[in-house]
Amino acid sequence: MTAHVDELAPYGGVRADAAWADEVRGLARDRDAVLLAHNYQVPEIQEIADHTGDSLALSRIAASSDASTIVFCGVHFMAETAKILAPDKTVLIPDARAGCSLADSITAEQLRAWKAEHPGAVVVSYVNTTAEVKAETDICCTSSNAVDVVASIPEDTEVLFCPDQFLGAHVKRETGRENLRVWAGECHVHAGINGPELAARAAADPDADLFIHPECGCATSALYLAGEGAVPEDKVKILSTGGMLSAARDTTANSVLVATEVGMLHQLRKAAPEVDFRAVNDRASCRYMKMITPAALLRSLRHGVDEVRVDPDTAARARASVRRMVEIGNPGGGE
Ligand code: 13P
Ligand code: SF4
Repeated sequence: MTAHVDELAPYGGVRADAAWADEVRGLARDRDAVLLAHNYQVPEIQEIADHTGDSLALSRIAASSDASTIVFCGVHFMAETAKILAPDKTVLIPDARAGCSLADSITAEQLRAWKAEHPGAVVVSYVNTTAEVKAETDICCTSSNAVDVVASIPEDTEVLFCPDQFLGAHVKRETGRENLRVWAGECHVHAGINGPELAARAAADPDADLFIHPECGCATSALYLAGEGAVPEDKVKILSTGGMLSAARDTTANSVLVATEVGMLHQLRKAAPEVDFRAVNDRASCRYMKMITPAALLRSLRHGVDEVRVDPDTAARARASVRRMVEIGNPGGGE
């Protein structure tokens, strides 16, 4: 059975019904493809994927999968990372326009200039960066292993951390390192989840746990609220998206306020259906993540598009830093 897709408008409306699911699965089988989906994808995509997870877990799966094709339902830097780790595989992203405002906040040229000002420093880049930036990087990290990555660097060595200022502040707090310099980039979605909004939501629901992604503008405010006694300290959890899922399974709270992209709520509600998960900011939706529609996935599998290519020299230079990221930290993506 074939789902109805208007080939002239491949990004248009396709119902994610049983016929769509059958066709997606059949095409994935024919292409020997594994379907990976980030936790911020729309629920239909999360449900059809072979694996749904955070950036680190998906990178590890991409590196170890036997499939000859990886279809990455996420944003471009994630698919690029998969290609860097698995250069001999075909890597497809259902819509190559799915970028990332955080990855756009530093260029390779800017990083080279920053390095020139700090000779001898070790460069740690968040995985939300382009392949060119990764090629200028010593170790990549994700939000679930950033603290472990920085802790693996000798204490007397200066560290340049880019591009996310809020994750950088979190790592600085956790490691207590004075010699960690942080680039002033941000993700427009997470930066918009602010402290006053979090404080108001927490005051209205004083028994709720707070799950906060370290990219959020409110992460520092959450710890301030805990420090002031406005929220009990053990209720504030700064977590990667994978870490949020583990915490959801363990929480004893009846409700949880979630500060991250709203796509995360789907996995959280599945993991702990008895808990009331609510977004701190329900407008926190990443337009790039949402470009991966059911229609785009179907088009990708039917036509083998959009193929992700990374210049081989750049990929070779980026590979060492990405491999170190995959090796450091706690397997499973939790914090
Ligand atoms: P994680 O899934 O690694 O927590 O990343 C969040 C994110 O913003 C990815 O774009
Ligand atoms: Fe990038 Fe932010 Fe979207 Fe994540 S949520 S992909 S960091 S723009």
